[in-house]
Amino acid sequence: MADQAFVTLATNDSYARGAMVLGKSLKNHKTSKKLVVLIGPHVSDQSRAVLHNIYDEVRLVDVLDSGDAAHLAMMKRPDLGVTFTKLHCWTLTHYSKCVFMDADTLVVSNIDELFDREELSAAPDPGWPDCFNSGVFVFCPSNETYGKLLQYCTQHGSFDGGDQGVLNGFFSDWATADITKHLPFIYNMSSIAIYTYLPAFKQYGANAKVVHFLGQMKPWSYTYNPSQRRLKGDMQGSLDPSFLLEWWALYSGEVVPLLMGDYGDQPFYSGCEEDVAESTHVQPIMSSAERKQKWEQGQADYMGIDSFDNIQKKLDVFLK
Ligand code: UDP
Ligand code: GLC
Ligand code: MN
Repeated sequence: MADQAFVTLATNDSYARGAMVLGKSLKNHKTSKKLVVLIGPHVSDQSRAVLHNIYDEVRLVDVLDSGDAAHLAMMKRPDLGVTFTKLHCWTLTHYSKCVFMDADTLVVSNIDELFDREELSAAPDPGWPDCFNSGVFVFCPSNETYGKLLQYCTQHGSFDGGDQGVLNGFFSDWATADITKHLPFIYNMSSIAIYTYLPAFKQYGANAKVVHFLGQMKPWSYTYNPSQRRLKGDMQGSLDPSFLLEWWALYSGEVVPLLMGDYGDQPFYSGCEEDVAESTHVQPIMSSAERKQKWEQGQADYMGIDSFDNIQKKLDVFLK
């Protein structure tokens, strides 16, 4: 239906890569819904071009930040204040119903049936199941609700410093009012469930429809070798890397070629490495603008992405 959409958010180039993979995964599983990505002003032109290729709508929004360092520190995630930006999804009033999905989620099966659910439907949070996890939720855009949410933020703030605290405060009867608003866990199977309840994961994990790479380590925090189909880096918290490998297969196979096309002749680090044995540390993904800035400040990563080997590989690609 034209007035229903999947919506995600990316305020920077790293999360934009997540959004690219999520969009591809929704399309590969043949969604009939529209795809919308909300972006912040720091997303590079290159990323925007690729997002336009995958999404029906790329909408620039102001970054809203809770600025709530104290609560964010309790979660050990000082970076999540900007998740208040997610609240903009209620302003998409040209759609009657939407499903929001974090940029660190991956769809492994068609989930269009979620549109049969009502606002606010979501799956339990694995850390506190009487709260819903705000990485996947069904909602109905409305300027009135948006206004009330902002008002709620001003009056009560967020108990976790991010959007999940606000949304659970606002939709406070979720846990008890209506069981049909509880999405099965397979629609938001957080990767941490794998090590917090391994037997259940072994029993039910194969039914997962959405995998959520919740937590500090994201798929793009790793480095991948496409020819060996192997990951490297600190694999803690990922006992079963098959979903991570699925993310990387999609990213390296279907997203990197689009990024390469759009990056033209600018240096660009995809996170894919041909020879995993050569280097030993995990490399963070930076936008080319951030990397250029580091270079200009004399902070080239000589042992990592700016190593001579990598520069040579890059030159080889262009000379081919
Ligand atoms: N997000 C973003 N930029 C940031 C942090 C978060 O765009 O700097 C968005 C992105 O869509 C992300 C969501 O907010 O998936 C929630 O953050 P995250 O997934 O890191 O939280 P977690 O699920 O790990 O608690
Ligand atoms: C969570 C959710 C995420 C949300 C964050 C901040 O753990 O997975 O979607 O943005 O908390 O509230
Ligand atoms: Mn997430």
